[in-house]
Amino acid sequence: MGKKVLDRAALKKVLSQQRLHPSVPDIVVAIINLTSSPSTSINDLVRVIERDQELSTRILQISNSGFYSFKRKITTITDAVILLGWNTVKMISLGSTVLKRISEKDSKLYGHCMRTALIARFLAIEANFYKVEEIAVVGLLHDLGIIILELYFNEEFLISKQYALDNSVPIHIAERKFLGVDHAEIGGWTLAEWQLPENIIESVARHHSFDPDTYHARKTAVIHVADILSMAVDFAGPSWEKVPEMAPSALEMLGFHEADLKDLILTCMRMKFDPLIL
Ligand SMILES: [Fe+2]
Ligand SMILES: [Fe+2]
Repeated sequence: MGKKVLDRAALKKVLSQQRLHPSVPDIVVAIINLTSSPSTSINDLVRVIERDQELSTRILQISNSGFYSFKRKITTITDAVILLGWNTVKMISLGSTVLKRISEKDSKLYGHCMRTALIARFLAIEANFYKVEEIAVVGLLHDLGIIILELYFNEEFLISKQYALDNSVPIHIAERKFLGVDHAEIGGWTLAEWQLPENIIESVARHHSFDPDTYHARKTAVIHVADILSMAVDFAGPSWEKVPEMAPSALEMLGFHEADLKDLILTCMRMKFDPLIL
């Protein structure tokens, strides 16, 4: 074993034909169109979301979940947009189909995503980020490429998973070997298709290939570090998930040092993990 089963270009072609989200309802298309127009107001977005009862409920569930510690309960979409921000609500709206599928199909991956969101939020606060809520939701969706692989390339993904298990390597290394691309980059393609800003795309696309010299390296550092801490403290995580190495420069970019790692892990272990059922 060890032969490439697909290459990057072929995989990208298939995904672009699928448009990555065949099951996405009209509401998502409406949200993409609305949020990409400069003349759209918050009210326009709220009105479109409120028309979809299931989506509205899910946005409120996520807004009121454990990793957002707002003092009062968020009961309206308008409040959610104001408190969480435009990109966050857009990401939850567009990602909710994917999140629901993760929660149904792969509870361990789902737990990992929730935990990563919680840790990303903590790191963002510690590192004085401005858009903390946005970063938490990037953490929630950072592995959406995995679910896309499971959906469209399940056979190839299983080969990668098996290789990762047999050889004790992180899954993204196996994916690169067999598919020519990893789930991080695939997730980035999806977010680009959803017309999210470049900094969000980069932080997902490069969470397994952190480079301190990229334009949005600081935000990427949060997701890179949160992902690894999340794996390190999750003893019941996905069985194929070998904890990858953390880039020391990512840690430093957030104001931490390698000597702080032990304390960081302890802090993450103590976090109240509140799995959210979608
Ligand atoms: Fe990942
Ligand atoms: Fe991850």
